[in-house]
Amino acid sequence: MALTTDRLVLRRWRESDREPFARLNADPRVMEFFPRPLSRAESDRLVEQIETHFHQHGFGLYAAELRENQSFAGFVGLSVPRFSAPFTPSVEIGWRLAAEHWGRGLATEGAREIVRYALDVLGLSELVSFTVPANIRSRRVMEKLGMTHSPDDDFDHPEMPEGHPLRRHVLYRLIK
Ligand SMILES: CC(C)(COP(=O)(O)OP(=O)(O)OC[C@H]1O[C@@H](n2cnc3c(N)ncnc32)[C@H](O)[C@@H]1OP(=O)(O)O)[C@@H](O)C(=O)NCCC(=O)NCCS
Repeated sequence: MALTTDRLVLRRWRESDREPFARLNADPRVMEFFPRPLSRAESDRLVEQIETHFHQHGFGLYAAELRENQSFAGFVGLSVPRFSAPFTPSVEIGWRLAAEHWGRGLATEGAREIVRYALDVLGLSELVSFTVPANIRSRRVMEKLGMTHSPDDDFDHPEMPEGHPLRRHVLYRLIK
């Protein structure tokens, strides 16, 4: 199954995506709000986790390909958080693009199609998204999707140690 927008194809992963995905995951700009850039092995492990998620849930983080030249640009899609928090179980909408593609509305364009798919095809009634407060670009995408932020939902990410600067997270919700 593949989803298409004006400029993107959102599809299952191919072996050839691993190399550009590893490049993007090694870029400190892309990983500014994550603990650290990823090695090639860590990036490949993430692809495997994404594939496992597709097998378990039937949906996941789709590889985002530019229609203009068929190049891999990153991912946009859905993910079931594995940790437990006040808002779980839930389905998260998420995105990560190579920095050269930022600022052209691509994440929002892909995410709008994912929202449509999640609500209208999968029949989900709610999506969440979360990030650290300083990740303005990602928060802006959430806002453009019509997601709402209630400070009462902010939480400490259980996979981040106490005192870590990336522990506090803001939560956005989209309710059908
Ligand atoms: C978050 C990310 C996917 C956004 O991709 P993108 O295609 O550039 O997003 P869009 O162009 O759809 O929207 C970005 C918005 O942020 C705004 N923005 C960008 N930099 C900004 C800044 N420094 N201050 C304020 N707003 C900013 C843009 O203007 C745009 O909003 P607008 O359309 O109202 O002008 C991309 O930056 C990325 O991959 N970041 C690294 C990975 C990451 O943090 N993922 C999210 C983890 S929760």
